[in-house]
Amino acid sequence: MAVAAAQKRADSETAERILAEYGLSAVPRHVAIIMDGNGRWARARGMPRLAGHHAGRENVRRITMACADAGVEVLTIYAFSTENWRRPADEVWGLMSLLAEAIDREAADLNRNNVRIHHSGSLDGISAALAKSVQRAVDLTASNTRMVLNVAFNYGGRAEIARAVRRMLAQGVDPEGITEERIGEFLDTAGLPDPDLVIRTAGEMRLSNFLLWQAAYAEYYATPVCWPEFGREELYRAFADFGRRTRRFGGLV
Ligand code: FPP
Repeated sequence: MAVAAAQKRADSETAERILAEYGLSAVPRHVAIIMDGNGRWARARGMPRLAGHHAGRENVRRITMACADAGVEVLTIYAFSTENWRRPADEVWGLMSLLAEAIDREAADLNRNNVRIHHSGSLDGISAALAKSVQRAVDLTASNTRMVLNVAFNYGGRAEIARAVRRMLAQGVDPEGITEERIGEFLDTAGLPDPDLVIRTAGEMRLSNFLLWQAAYAEYYATPVCWPEFGREELYRAFADFGRRTRRFGGLV
């Protein structure tokens, strides 16, 4: 208990220092990132695409800690989309291997850092070993409180909504009781706040089936920087930009 309190105090001191150092007026509660540009980053260096994904994976660790240090509550990363299955088999296989290694290797470290791992997406079609690793990591970190790392893996926003509808029907939910909040309870992100800030690296300007329901009122930030090079400074630049936005949620200020 005393350890948890000391950790919380240290966390808030770090967050305060970062806010002061980077002149941030606000840190988003939930940051969601489309980690694009691994392939381009690798090509520009004459390296195979998988080397880009490898560098991208290393960056996940940096950005996870940068978010935790700043006091972000939830970080969602788009690790593998339902559409990514269309890539050549060797790239799909390579991405799965990178993820499997990362989950087994990082879960203990994330656990030590009091980060809870959450999975959004489907484990259907995934190897039994990888599905087990994901579940093990989720179970191991279930009681952690510093930050949630929500890994969108084998995830697509439309597939998620279809899954939620199937679950509602299977549970016999009364049509009269279907509200926006009730739908949220059946999504993979149930219990998590909606994203405040969606960041996309590598310059594209699209949502690519990411958090379609949840990002309805998220602020959007695009940067030309490829994911492997999107570091702490870049992240806090995005937070600074977020802090200058006026969020109206459809109303007037
Ligand atoms: C997009 O870059 C990136 C992906 C499809 C995969 C992202 C996965 C990782 C960063 C590794 C995940 C690791 C963990 C631990 C979650 P792209 O290949 O589309 O790049 P390009 O548009 O330049 O070709």
